[in-house]
Amino acid sequence: MAFYSDKVLEHFKNPRNVGEITNADGIGEIGNPVCGDMMTFYVKIKDNKLEDVKFKTFGCGAAIAVSSMVSEMAKGKSVEDALKITNESVAAELGGLPPNKMHCSNLGADALHRAIEDYQNKHKEAK
Ligand code: FES
Repeated sequence: MAFYSDKVLEHFKNPRNVGEITNADGIGEIGNPVCGDMMTFYVKIKDNKLEDVKFKTFGCGAAIAVSSMVSEMAKGKSVEDALKITNESVAAELGGLPPNKMHCSNLGADALHRAIEDYQNKHKEAK
């Protein structure tokens, strides 16, 4: 399977931070209508830092590896820095993705951003 980098395969086989945060501060859900894959990100934010990040992904191997990598990259970061995580930076951290799998990394970054935006919206209302 030279198609995928070792890092992608490793994250696919041992995904980090799989699951759900029951009292999450933000939840972001996204799906790709073409492949039908779905991803949900949960964030716990304290003092403007992503204290915990978890995800549930119903998708291809690349989508699972991407979710795992996004969760690792985002954990411990400030809200602003986590929002700077892009599909390109995730793919680069994974040692690249095949061109027809780049949309899988879009899902990861977008779901994380949505979860943070969900937190920000709730926060606005509380003020
Ligand atoms: Fe759609 Fe990977 S094939 S997320």
